Amino acid sequence: MALTPYPAGDFPPTPTAIVTGAASERGIGRATANRLARDGWAVAVVDLDEAASQEVAAQLAREHGVPALGLGVDIADEQAVVAAVRRIDEELPQLVGVVNNAGISSPTPFTEVGTEEWKRVFDVNVHGTFFVTREAVKIFRRRSLGRIVNVSSASAERGGGVYGRAAYSGSKAALLGMAKTWARELGEYGITANSVAPGSIDTDIMGGRLSDERKEFLLQELPVGRVGTVEDVAGGIAYLLGRDGGYLTGVTLDINGGSHIH
Ligand SMILES: NC(=O)c1ccc[n+]([C@@H]2O[C@H](COP(=O)([O-])OP(=O)(O)OC[C@H]3O[C@@H](n4cnc5c(N)ncnc54)[C@H](O)[C@@H]3O)[C@@H](O)[C@H]2O)c1
Repeated sequence: MALTPYPAGDFPPTPTAIVTGAASERGIGRATANRLARDGWAVAVVDLDEAASQEVAAQLAREHGVPALGLGVDIADEQAVVAAVRRIDEELPQLVGVVNNAGISSPTPFTEVGTEEWKRVFDVNVHGTFFVTREAVKIFRRRSLGRIVNVSSASAERGGGVYGRAAYSGSKAALLGMAKTWARELGEYGITANSVAPGSIDTDIMGGRLSDERKEFLLQELPVGRVGTVEDVAGGIAYLLGRDGGYLTGVTLDINGGSHIH
């Protein structure tokens, strides 16, 4: 897309954000895409299923009146990511944000996890995030403005979650280190990098909604007295990505209702 007349480093009126993993119906990515569109962002929906991504993009454009593009991409596929980010740059307004939300979980205990499962978790959660961010940063640097948010997990901080085990926690811990390093290395280009570390959020990632029994169990450890929603996480991401978030970098926002306080 042709460069806008806005001075380098200034937010354009309609910034674009890439949200990976944004097609899942009840997921954090989709809620984030909706929240950002509501805040006036153009959104690139990047998920495995092309038709589902296009459907979400059409819904965002219809309900929020913002430009939106849906792309079917496996973020672990380097060439597919390069092509997708190029298309986003050509077809949407100035790219300002990337939300590295796409991820897969692994409930397998360490003594049982196989090489294939371990590698796939890192291929998607870590290498996919690396590919998407590397391509986005090339574009951010042109206009001296960029915001990166990694969706990590409380599981990374406390050594396993209520569901995710070593492969998942290890991959999510990598995201925390990557964001902190980007914060240091990319600040001089007007780029911030932060993470969110959600606790248990009621989505489909664990193979279905939380049962009442499970919720009851989780509530025992939750000072706020309720299980987290996708909107709770989307609000935190929107803050880190938005105009007011410019003085936060290298930060991890614990969106966990107090389940893990450190
Ligand atoms: N739900 C929770 O309790 C919780 C807690 C902490 C962190 N998280 C993280 O939040 C993020 C979103 O999870 P969710 O709970 O909304 O789950 P979800 O399964 O609803 O959404 C994940 C999305 O990522 C997409 N995806 C998976 N692999 C992909 C790939 N290779 N390329 C592109 N897209 C891919 C899926 O198609 C799906 O749309 C994940 O990174 C997850 O680890 C979730």
